[in-house]
Amino acid sequence: MNRSKHIVAICGSQRAGSHTRTALERALRAADAAGATTDLIDLAELELPVFDPDREDAGDAVELRDRVRRADGVLLGSPMYHGSYASPLKTAIDYCGFDEFEDETVGLLVVSGGGFPTPALDHLRAVASELGAWVLPTEVAIPNAHGAFDDGRLVDDALADRVEALGSELVAYAGVESYPETTTACAVPTAD
Ligand SMILES: Cc1cc2nc3c(=O)[nH]c(=O)nc-3n(C[C@H](O)[C@H](O)[C@H](O)COP(=O)(O)O)c2cc1C
Repeated sequence: MNRSKHIVAICGSQRAGSHTRTALERALRAADAAGATTDLIDLAELELPVFDPDREDAGDAVELRDRVRRADGVLLGSPMYHGSYASPLKTAIDYCGFDEFEDETVGLLVVSGGGFPTPALDHLRAVASELGAWVLPTEVAIPNAHGAFDDGRLVDDALADRVEALGSELVAYAGVESYPETTTACAVPTAD
């Protein structure tokens, strides 16, 4: 049943050997195991100039939007840069908009060199919510990145499980906007 679901990850780090990309790949493998098709958008492979509203189709913007629109669930991954998420991801999001994100199920993953990357997760959640996305409550923070990975693998099994859970939850909740409407709440009891 989930084969009809397509999960797209966008990696905000352009660094060769990016830990963010490694973690996203792991989450996408879990999504694949849950039955979805997957696509990793590596922003290092796309030409996306700093966003200019007068040139919204610049570079590979059309391809970017096309790949994101095919998604039933989008996984946004970024390193923390100076207390927020990385500018290549902001540029990619700015080339997109409501057409790509409204009612989309979105998962979040942030990697940092220091402590918990809570600000970057909060900023991404705010941006995705502003675009009308359904942001999963589960989010993944990978602090102390240099010790968290060894030879391209996550060292901590519990963290690896959480990354995989994010991938499979994204599949489970992709398309949440089309779930049946919930009935209205029960009548408020009146005092007799
Ligand atoms: C420009 C820049 C700013 C950074 N700012 C922070 C920061 O504010 N907090 C932090 O914990 N790590 C910071 N880092 C470290 C990165 O989050 C860390 O190296 C991360 O692993 C990079 O992700 P990547 O491996 O996917 O490229 C910064 C790194 C760079 C290059």
